[in-house]
Amino acid sequence: MSTFPDRPVAVLCSGGDSPGMNAFLRAVTRLGLNRHQIPVLGIRDGYQGLVRAARQVNGHPAELAKLKARIVANTGAKGLIELDQDIILMDHACVSGIVGRGGTLLGSARCLEFHKPEVRRSVIDLLTSLGVHALVVVGGDGSLTGARLLADESDLRVIGVPATIDNDLQFTELALGVDTAVHTLVWAVDHFIDTARSHRRVMVLETMGRDCGDLARMAAVASGAEMVITPEGGAVTHERLIEYAAKIETSMTRGRRHAIVLVAEGVKFSHDTTPDRSRAYVLRDAFESYFRRAGAPYPDLEVRPSVLGHLQRGGHATPQDCILASRFAENAWESLLSPEPQNGITALQHNRVVVVPFGAEDMPDRARFSRKMDELHEDLSSW
Ligand code: F6P
Repeated sequence: MSTFPDRPVAVLCSGGDSPGMNAFLRAVTRLGLNRHQIPVLGIRDGYQGLVRAARQVNGHPAELAKLKARIVANTGAKGLIELDQDIILMDHACVSGIVGRGGTLLGSARCLEFHKPEVRRSVIDLLTSLGVHALVVVGGDGSLTGARLLADESDLRVIGVPATIDNDLQFTELALGVDTAVHTLVWAVDHFIDTARSHRRVMVLETMGRDCGDLARMAAVASGAEMVITPEGGAVTHERLIEYAAKIETSMTRGRRHAIVLVAEGVKFSHDTTPDRSRAYVLRDAFESYFRRAGAPYPDLEVRPSVLGHLQRGGHATPQDCILASRFAENAWESLLSPEPQNGITALQHNRVVVVPFGAEDMPDRARFSRKMDELHEDLSSW
């Protein structure tokens, strides 16, 4: 391509990376080129890449012309890998072989500067001067808020795509990456069970998820973990800690040789004087002090805490995430090109992919789903 494309669509990944982002980038690029004959510009490092490019151009026509020439001269892998450009014209080859690969080809970042209206204005001006027709933003809560602001403050078409292992977006049943992260947690629990059983130990594993317990509860049901503690139950009191410990101890007296406890990172403790301390360690101390009380049946019962951390964000995306990413991309295009285009966010609702307007209401079923999942886990894991 020797001239700058007319009305391209731009795509970026923002916030914490999430498995399925690459599958989405491949799908949005290939559908653009193969089905709609519309080129796609990939933006490096989320909003940060746009802010950097806007600073470089800074309203100067000569700089804009140079940027356009660079984008056209160095397409695909050349611009992306060799020259580390902030804006790349995507081609078939650069999205080849990435469908299930974790992370994101374009890179991702959190961009605090984007909270400033003048920074968003500079980005809108840049996109407008490049003739960008629409922007697709792939990310979690904060990133989608940024997308909504851009939609409100410009004439750009903007589509958000939910991608976060936290599953904390209440308008979609699933976000990209959740299925893979649950899969990874099941794998991790399997490994911890082997060693826990050998030593008759309790393993407390802290999951990610911010203030949402979905990741932990889904992993608990799928892995058979004995206990799951999530933020939705409210701050954990001292009495509840004792109930949890007593439950574990009773299960040992009934013949259990191990216990796996999943605790979501968003859990709070009512007596907590060190809220930054990892939850897994707070639980270890509370449980061990209960197990060591006078006359206890297993005074030597040990608790080993682990914070699973960023392990949960990586790895090969599951088929379910790759399929959902491809369906989200298809829907994003349909929405962008429909005669009555609507800005909004792709969502999975009752197993259908739809685009909901920015600021759409929470699905009432989502909270019910979480509660039912907790009840199901309780009845499946109790001995
Ligand atoms: O939002 C995704 C997430 O992985 C959260 O579960 C976690 O709290 C946070 O991001 C970690 O952020 P960072 O990668 O910036 O440490």
